[in-house]
Amino acid sequence: MIQSGATDKLSTARISSWIVDFLRLPERNFRTGRFLSKLPRWLRQRFVRLTQEVLAERMRFASTPEISRDWNRRLSQFEIRNQTTRVLSRPKRVYFEVTRKCNLRCNMCPHSFKDLDRCDIDLHLLDVIADVLPYNEDMALFGCGESLTTPVFMEALSRLPKDMNTRLITNGLLLDEKVSRLLVQHQLSALTVSVDAAKEDTYQLIHGVSKLQQVIENIETLNRVKKELGSELPALVLGYVLMKANLDELPDFVRLGARLKAASIGVGHLTVFRESLKEQSLLYDREHSNNVLEETRKLAEILGVHVHLPVPFDLSVDPWKDKFPPFSGLCPEPWEFLYVDNVGTVRPCCIHEEIVGDLHRQSFEEIWNGEPYQRFRAVVNTPKRYGLCLNCFDYRYRNSDNPEHYFLIMAP
Ligand SMILES: C[S@@+](CC[C@H](N)C(=O)[O-])C[C@H]1O[C@@H](n2cnc3c(N)ncnc32)[C@H](O)[C@@H]1O
Ligand code: SF4
Ligand code: SF4
Repeated sequence: MIQSGATDKLSTARISSWIVDFLRLPERNFRTGRFLSKLPRWLRQRFVRLTQEVLAERMRFASTPEISRDWNRRLSQFEIRNQTTRVLSRPKRVYFEVTRKCNLRCNMCPHSFKDLDRCDIDLHLLDVIADVLPYNEDMALFGCGESLTTPVFMEALSRLPKDMNTRLITNGLLLDEKVSRLLVQHQLSALTVSVDAAKEDTYQLIHGVSKLQQVIENIETLNRVKKELGSELPALVLGYVLMKANLDELPDFVRLGARLKAASIGVGHLTVFRESLKEQSLLYDREHSNNVLEETRKLAEILGVHVHLPVPFDLSVDPWKDKFPPFSGLCPEPWEFLYVDNVGTVRPCCIHEEIVGDLHRQSFEEIWNGEPYQRFRAVVNTPKRYGLCLNCFDYRYRNSDNPEHYFLIMAP
């Protein structure tokens, strides 16, 4: 008996280290895929399941949090590659929608035409997802609202470990000296300020108020506080939603970014939610847009500013006549991302409206491997995908010239 137990243990350990070794290198992962595809379905499923369990055990019992996160990453990649609907890895990224309240009504945002549910999130939900947080690599403390309008944001930030990668996107209007000090003291990792303009009248057109100068002064205050407290954090990112109204001032915005010592500038295309903003889409001005993007790239290189620009338009296609093939990559969101909205419901990503659970009534595990989430994962990367997945406007999965990926008209 004793001998047989020892043999069992030995063989489990052998199998486990064989699997782990087999999966260790990326090129082996590639071979694993080919090897798996040749197995009969039942054997492949057994192999996948066993591998998931071995990797999950390594993840749970790793000697340090860093190693644990590393195993989680590998497990997640394995599960995405094999499109498992049951997922043992934990989400690497979490969106915690602190609030939907906002102090602005920017013309491109759903706040300008929709009466959004304005309440703040219940902080008790941080306890409900506590087991997930050690594996998290990106904690975003915002959603479709302005997190600095509520004390709940600072409270949430103060409850998270200082070494966690935390992130906020803000319009910057409430970023005064007191808020700046708290952000530095709580060591927020990255702060994106959505500025979207280099000139006051353009700012007014987009955001509906004439406050560009105030936002710039607020950023300068944050820079001063960081210097005073000897902190590199939060890293400053400047956001720019690209549209016809602000295209030509993008180079000036890069100059502003250099002056404000931004760690990077994030530029992304406008998603058009309103009929009246259709003409703002650069799909109608592709050649000029490409020229400005190229000029901006060169300028940023000279000034030493990191700029993330959208890919140039493909001028050899006609967006209004050509047919576009469906997106052929794998969307990883339902495997690596957890979106908790302001009322505690869980969605598979920040675009799709499907509700896959409710953290006020269910545990994380009940949701993560519940029937709705598994059903969603089963189809998201197949021709049976539905709803907003069909024309996903996430910049990572959209086709650069397909109009269906730019327009989601919901209002006049
Ligand atoms: C919804 S806001 C919430 C955070 C905060 N209130 C802010 O404006 O920074 C998050 C980001 O979405 C961007 N955004 C809003 N409407 C958009 C649209 N129609 N297309 C692309 N980005 C948009 C904003 O500029 C901002 O950078
Ligand atoms: S500040 Fe942010 S959430 Fe508020 S209206 Fe503007 S884009 Fe929308
Ligand atoms: S809407 Fe886009 S990001 Fe969301 S799950 Fe579908 S394809 Fe992925």
